[in-house]
Amino acid sequence: MKAGKQTETTNQKRFFTPENYAKEQSQRMHSTRGPLLIASLSAGEYLAEAVVNKYTRHLKAQGSEDNILYLEGIDRRFSDCEACVRLKHHVNGYDAFLFQALFNPNLPFSIDENYLSFLIAARALREHGAKHITGILPYLAYSRQDKPTAFKREPITAKLMADLSITAGLDQLISWAPHCGQIRGFYGSMHVDFLDPLILFMEEFSDFKNREDVIVVAPDVGASKFATHFGRAMNINTAIASKYRPQPEKVVISEIIGDFSNKKIAVILDDMISNAGTVYALCKKLITEQNIKEVHIGVSHNLCVGKGSERLQDLYKNFALKQVIVTDSIPQTAGLRELPFVKVLSLADSLSRTINRVHYNKSVSEVFYTPQ
Ligand code: R5P
Repeated sequence: MKAGKQTETTNQKRFFTPENYAKEQSQRMHSTRGPLLIASLSAGEYLAEAVVNKYTRHLKAQGSEDNILYLEGIDRRFSDCEACVRLKHHVNGYDAFLFQALFNPNLPFSIDENYLSFLIAARALREHGAKHITGILPYLAYSRQDKPTAFKREPITAKLMADLSITAGLDQLISWAPHCGQIRGFYGSMHVDFLDPLILFMEEFSDFKNREDVIVVAPDVGASKFATHFGRAMNINTAIASKYRPQPEKVVISEIIGDFSNKKIAVILDDMISNAGTVYALCKKLITEQNIKEVHIGVSHNLCVGKGSERLQDLYKNFALKQVIVTDSIPQTAGLRELPFVKVLSLADSLSRTINRVHYNKSVSEVFYTPQ
């Protein structure tokens, strides 16, 4: 939605009165939250652009000629690497949705740098008059640091990130399957939508529904609730692994609790793969000790750092790993996309529908309906 020169001049000269303002409002077809604006920081552009394209296609399919104001790549860096955000269009009264990929392995910036750019952008929108600011962080970094651990004197960093988001001026947050739902409470009264991946994995693994030879396995207690929901919805058995980390990057699966009689296929569901130590240990144990013949993995976020890719490839070659289903909550590297057993699902359509719901004050859970 770009203003032409003539419209710009007309707007500059315009003086608002109660009458012409009321007339203008009655002719507008905006949501009560204001006109829609999608803004993206550079790291989040890959997804924001896909969402804008989906949204526009949905509008066109419904016969609408509406256009979305899309501000892309609103951040830059000074030569000392300090982040700077500039908005090329006014944002007064807009319903703004701000995209950022906190972890982007295809760009040279760290999670911390990406987080700070996001906070600065939220502040820019706030200071320059956006009516609502909704942050879209598909991968909510730091959500794993939501509680004290066995390691010494760690802070609850997920709470600090929430405090910073509130201070920056965010009104609402949308994220995809963060490490745990309870951190919603860290955001106080802020409206937070954590989108549920259950439907997505049910569709992807629909061939396993009602199968007596299939079992879903949670790699740890944290993942057990989601795995149990999935098992119930799919009418298959659930098992829970007992996992501990003697050191931060080392994983031990001491036992797996569940009934493995006649089970041939295991589906491992987790929120994320980081170094792949968890799925590596679990997959090997399932193959060597539980007589499982094939393993399928579904994770919401694939960071695949350190030895991650190497471990997944070893599982594929030597331990009957058949497929790894991930999403583009984190942009996947070309190397990962090329692996024959990795399938990357795009969140673009789900997010375009979510934005549409939020923009028109409708229920988001209708898009992410969870079977009971
Ligand atoms: C831990 O609680 C998480 O749910 C994941 O299981 C963990 O972050 C995966 O990390 P990694 O792939 O490095 O084992």
